[in-house]
Amino acid sequence: MEKWWKRAVVYQVYPRSFMDTDGDGIGDLNGITEKLDYIAELGADVIWLSPVYDSPNDDNGYDIRDYQSIMTEFGTMEDFDRLLAEAHARGLKLIMDLVINHTSDEHEWFRTKPEYYIWRDKPNNWQSFFSGTAWAYDEVQKGYYLHLFSKKQPDLNWENEEMREELYTMMRWWLDKGVDGFRMDVINMISKDPAFPEAKDGDGNPHFLNGPEIHRYLREMNDRVLSHYDIVTVGEMPGTSPEHARAYTREENKELNMIFTFEHMELDQTAREKWNLKKLDLRELKANMEKWQHALHEEGWNSLYWNNHDQPRIVSRFGNDGEYRVESAKMLGACLHFMQGTPYIYQGEELGMTNVKFDSIEEYEDIETRNMYSEKLAKGIPPEKIMPAIWAKGRDNARTPMQWSNEPNAGFTKGTPWLKVNPSYPKINAACRNEEGSIFSFYQSLIRLRKKLEVITNGTFTLLHREHPAIFAYERETKAEKITVCCNFSNQHQLIARPNGKLLLSNYKEVEEQPDLFLRPYETAVFYSGPAE
Ligand code: NOJ
Repeated sequence: MEKWWKRAVVYQVYPRSFMDTDGDGIGDLNGITEKLDYIAELGADVIWLSPVYDSPNDDNGYDIRDYQSIMTEFGTMEDFDRLLAEAHARGLKLIMDLVINHTSDEHEWFRTKPEYYIWRDKPNNWQSFFSGTAWAYDEVQKGYYLHLFSKKQPDLNWENEEMREELYTMMRWWLDKGVDGFRMDVINMISKDPAFPEAKDGDGNPHFLNGPEIHRYLREMNDRVLSHYDIVTVGEMPGTSPEHARAYTREENKELNMIFTFEHMELDQTAREKWNLKKLDLRELKANMEKWQHALHEEGWNSLYWNNHDQPRIVSRFGNDGEYRVESAKMLGACLHFMQGTPYIYQGEELGMTNVKFDSIEEYEDIETRNMYSEKLAKGIPPEKIMPAIWAKGRDNARTPMQWSNEPNAGFTKGTPWLKVNPSYPKINAACRNEEGSIFSFYQSLIRLRKKLEVITNGTFTLLHREHPAIFAYERETKAEKITVCCNFSNQHQLIARPNGKLLLSNYKEVEEQPDLFLRPYETAVFYSGPAE
C-alpha cells in the first residue's frame, strides 16, 4: 500500500517567529494553535515544528537543555498537548524537530554523564559551522569537547550505548504522546571517524558526514523505535550524494523515509562557502534537480524544498522580489510542487515573503551570521563588504516574524518582536490571502492538484529544453496521465514549442491559445493530458 506521506504536503513552523499571544515578542505554542485553521485552509497535511524544547537559545532552540519539557517562552506541556489535540482534530499531523547530534552544554548530561560527549586531550584542526575551532576547553573535565556548531552545542557521543538508549526512550515518549514523526537535525553527522584526523583546510566534513557507523545507528533506531509507529521521518543531511540518499531511504533498508539534501541550495555560492555569492546558472539547477528526480525514482524518496529557517527567501533568491514578486513566487512554487517527492512549505512562502535588509549587524540575531561577521571583521574586512552576503544568505531572512496583517508588527505581536518585522508587511501579509490571484490561493491549487492527480506522486520525470538558459521545463508521466510543466526563470519573454494537453494551471490571467508557447516574465504554464481532463 502507498505510504500516506508520499501524497502529503508539509508546512514548517518556526515557533519563535510564527504568532505571539502573550505579548513578550516571541511566538508561542498558543499562537500556533490559534493559527491551525490557517494551515488547514492552505491544505497542508503535516506540520513540522522547529524545536520547542527547553533551551537557553544560543541557537534558537537547536541547543536543547531538556528534551522532555517545553521552552518557557513558548508555553507549557499542557499548551503542547492542546496544540497536538487541536491539530489532530483538524486532520493535521504534527512532527517534531529532533536534535540529537548535540545537546546544549546546559543539558544535565553534560555534567552528570560526560561520557555521553566527545572529549580529546588536544583539539584537531576541524572548524565549527559557526566559525572558529570546533573544540572548546572545559575546566571541569580538563579536556576539549567537540562542538560542530556553537560552543554551547556539544556533540553527543553515539558510540555510547547507554546514551543511545536514553535517546530512544525519549523518542518513544514523544511518539506515545501521539506526535506523528520527526525531522532529524543534521542526523548524518552522528558517526564520527574515531581517529579524529587532521582535516584538509580544517574542513572536517569528510570525517563526520555519513560516517562509518551511521547506517548501524539508524537501523538500530528504526528497529527500536521508528518501526513501531505509523509515522514519517525526514533526516536533514548535508553532503549527501544520490547513492547515500538511496541507502538512507530505500524502504527495505529500514532507516528513514526521506532526507533533506543540499546540492540545489549550494549552486549560488562558490568554494563550499555559503557567504561567497555566485549568480545561479539555471542549467546547473535543472541538471541537479533532474539527477535527484531520477536517482530516487522507485528507489527511495525525495523531499522537495526551496525554503526553511536556514535558507533565504526563495522569491528573493531565484525569483524576482520586485516587479515580478507575485509571478515569480507562483512560478517557483509550481516548478517544485510538480516534481516527485514530499513538498515542504516554510511559513510565509505561501505569501511570497521576501528577504530583509537591515542596515547594521546589531539588528541581526542569528549566531551563525553574527559569528561570521565578527570573524571577517577581525580579518580586516570592512562591514560594507560583509553586509551584502548577510542580505543575500543570512538565516534571519527566513526568521523575521510571520506577516499576518497590516496592523503594527504585522499582527505578529502586541509587544516588541524579538527580531524586527520585514517592512514589506503592509503589502505582503496573510490578510490579503483571499484576494483574487493571491500566491496563497495558487499554493492551495498546487496542493489540491497533488491530491487529485496520481501522476504527481508517481510519474516518471523527463527534463526538457536542457540547454535553455531561462526555461525550466519537464514532463511527468504514468501510463494514464502526463503533465508538462514550463517555467520561465527570467524577466524576458521566451518562446518554446507548445506542449500537448490541456492547460491545467497558469500564473497569468489571460492565456492565449497560440501554436507556440510564448512565456511572459516568470510565467509558468502547466499542461495535462489524461482522464481528469
Ligand atoms: C541545522 C538546523 O536546521 C540549524 O538551524 C541549526 O543551527 C543546526 N542544524 C544545528 O542544530
